[in-house]
Amino acid sequence: MKTVCLLGSPRRDGNSDTLAQRFTTTAQTHGASVQTFALASLSYNGCINLFQCKNGLQHCGQNDDLTAVLDAIAGAQVLVLASPIYFTGLSGQLKLVIDRMFSYFVPDYPTAAIKSRLSPGRHLVLLQTQGEPEDKYADLLDRHSAGFIGLGFDNLHLVRAWGVREPGEVNNHRQFLQQCDAVAGQIYQPA
Ligand SMILES: Cc1cc2nc3c(=O)[nH]c(=O)nc-3n(C[C@H](O)[C@H](O)[C@H](O)COP(=O)(O)O)c2cc1C
Repeated sequence: MKTVCLLGSPRRDGNSDTLAQRFTTTAQTHGASVQTFALASLSYNGCINLFQCKNGLQHCGQNDDLTAVLDAIAGAQVLVLASPIYFTGLSGQLKLVIDRMFSYFVPDYPTAAIKSRLSPGRHLVLLQTQGEPEDKYADLLDRHSAGFIGLGFDNLHLVRAWGVREPGEVNNHRQFLQQCDAVAGQIYQPA
């Protein structure tokens, strides 16, 4: 299964990178091919409401470093988003990509039966790290689910690591790493 992994933290080798590394390594042991993009090393805008993706073009009208990322996502069955919680939400780097994913919606998406240019049956995995405790931000994926499901990501998976602030701290919590393995198993080797 083709898999695209987006590293959403501006900090390399931090906690979300560690979860992503664990998930993608396990995915590869199950035969997945993985393409990883470190968003902080790319140069791109968020959506600027050109609306060309709804008026004549089949893709985003902007041409920048996200063009290749959006193409890769379109060709993958699994999308992995690794993000720290920043100011109660996703990192800015990742939120800009998600806004650009609006370009996958067909022009008449509000009323169309098939709303997406992407094939259905895809998997989306959110790997979320946060300094605050377990009861905070448990609903982040749910808050984005309608958009992702509308695009064809029918299978949503969440791994959350809480109480981790310093880089590498997530390695002190085996359960978070094991959850990456468990979700990878569900996706790449379903029973
Ligand atoms: C600018 C900034 C904002 C943050 N905001 C929050 C927050 O609102 N809630 C929280 O639990 N942690 C917050 N954190 C902590 C990070 O989510 C936490 O350190 C996480 O493990 C970082 O992941 P990373 O190592 O992959 O960058 C914030 C960190 C930074 C630098």
